[in-house]
Amino acid sequence: MPDTYLDLVNRDPGRAVARRLKLPRPPLLRRYSPGEPLLTGPVLLLGAGADADALAGVLAGPVGGPVRSGDDASSRPTGAPDLVFDGWDLDVHRHADPALRYAAVVVVLTEVLAPGDLSDPALELAGVLRSLRPGARVVTVSRPAGSDDAPAVAAAREGVEGLVRSLAKELRDGATGNGVVVAPSVPVTAPGVLGALRFFLSARSAYVDGQLLPIDSSAGMLPADWAAPLAGQVVVVTGAARGIGAAIAAVLARDGARVVAVDVPAAGDGLVRTANAARGTALQLDVTSPDAGARILEHALGRYGRLDVVVHNAGITRDKLLANMTPERWDQVLAVNLESQLAINETLLTSGDFADAPRLVSIASTSGIAGNRGQTNYATSKAGVMGLVRATAALLAPFGGTANAVAPGFIETEMTARIPAATRQIARRVSSLAQGGLPVDVAEAVALLAGPTAPGTQGRTLRVCGQNPVGR
Ligand code: NAI
Repeated sequence: MPDTYLDLVNRDPGRAVARRLKLPRPPLLRRYSPGEPLLTGPVLLLGAGADADALAGVLAGPVGGPVRSGDDASSRPTGAPDLVFDGWDLDVHRHADPALRYAAVVVVLTEVLAPGDLSDPALELAGVLRSLRPGARVVTVSRPAGSDDAPAVAAAREGVEGLVRSLAKELRDGATGNGVVVAPSVPVTAPGVLGALRFFLSARSAYVDGQLLPIDSSAGMLPADWAAPLAGQVVVVTGAARGIGAAIAAVLARDGARVVAVDVPAAGDGLVRTANAARGTALQLDVTSPDAGARILEHALGRYGRLDVVVHNAGITRDKLLANMTPERWDQVLAVNLESQLAINETLLTSGDFADAPRLVSIASTSGIAGNRGQTNYATSKAGVMGLVRATAALLAPFGGTANAVAPGFIETEMTARIPAATRQIARRVSSLAQGGLPVDVAEAVALLAGPTAPGTQGRTLRVCGQNPVGR
């Protein structure tokens, strides 16, 4: 269901009328298309110290490098390799210049030790906020607060969360604020950190706002080509006939993957459309059937000789207040949204034929985080998905594999088109970006968590919700 208000107020004469009547005007978001530069405009990198210098080296270094990261070898954890990178060729400035309109600000806060250490970077950032370009990016890079930290250190580190989440609510014109939270033993130039930082800076993260993505380890690899990070990989996407699943198939194919699109036989036409558009193959399959895992494996190995990534996207709603819930509605939702994932993972991971370092990405939901009236069955299944990926990640991490989830907020699909009109309008406008997301926005986050830098993040759930205020 298209967001007609968004279209209306961003085109004349609607734009002029909205301006005159001071109506809210949700911005048109900057979305990624292949071949475009990572950012158009200068980047301000705030923060002092070895980590800030190392990141400045990567951001400013020439494409086609390699260039040394610029960090100080003595500051690296013992045993960390002498890292060398392709640069990102950005126009990086280390001090705020009021005459410039920045496309992005990266705030490196890894070395804060007390709340007072946040003042300078926060206030320097404050000075450039009014002159950011439309669709600008503000990204913090910080360390998590640990229970072993001194109270002042933990206070400063946790403070960053409040800063990011509030700033994201203040930004305008499609600008977003997000953070990368890097575990203490992980260098800021680890693949997971650079993958997440690049994602947040890019137009791929258009509808990700107010989120802090933890990087748990130095595992993973940088892609040989950032435009094709999934080159040579074989991925399976369930529920791919339409909506978010169709977008995931298209985006992963764009990023170089060979795609197996899975959906129920009744959705056969849409499934063939998706598979053709992705130049992949279609597999008609109900994910709840007992042989689903075996058939997925058989298809992928038969057609492509390998299987690297599975995206569990198939999902249904059967909304009812719990007081009116039927066993059928409860069981169907749990079976499709959660139990199918458990069973398929079990088959794949015990087969010995899944990749050496398998990658799993599950689609959860903000309903599973915050709960939603009328959705006890759905929210149970989606909260369950988050538990599933956490426990599965622990099993896969020792082998370099990974399991993570993406939790969409309100996304414009046939599923949400069924929501009553007034509720739909509210669901769109309450987010910080004042609009629903598009299926492609979820797909871009899936691509990050399916890609070579993903193993840095383990068992986490990344929200793609435009900073919908529900839950955390
Ligand atoms: P959709 O209803 O448009 O598409 C879901 C697809 O899954 C359909 O093609 C359907 O045929 C397929 N499917 C359903 N049961 C299946 C089964 N047993 N086996 C194989 N395929 C099956 O839904 P949408 O909006 O694209 O959602 C995709 C995922 O994103 C779901 O897991 C949903 O719960 C989740 N989600 C969607 C949100 C939204 O705002 N649209 C918000 C949060 C989560």
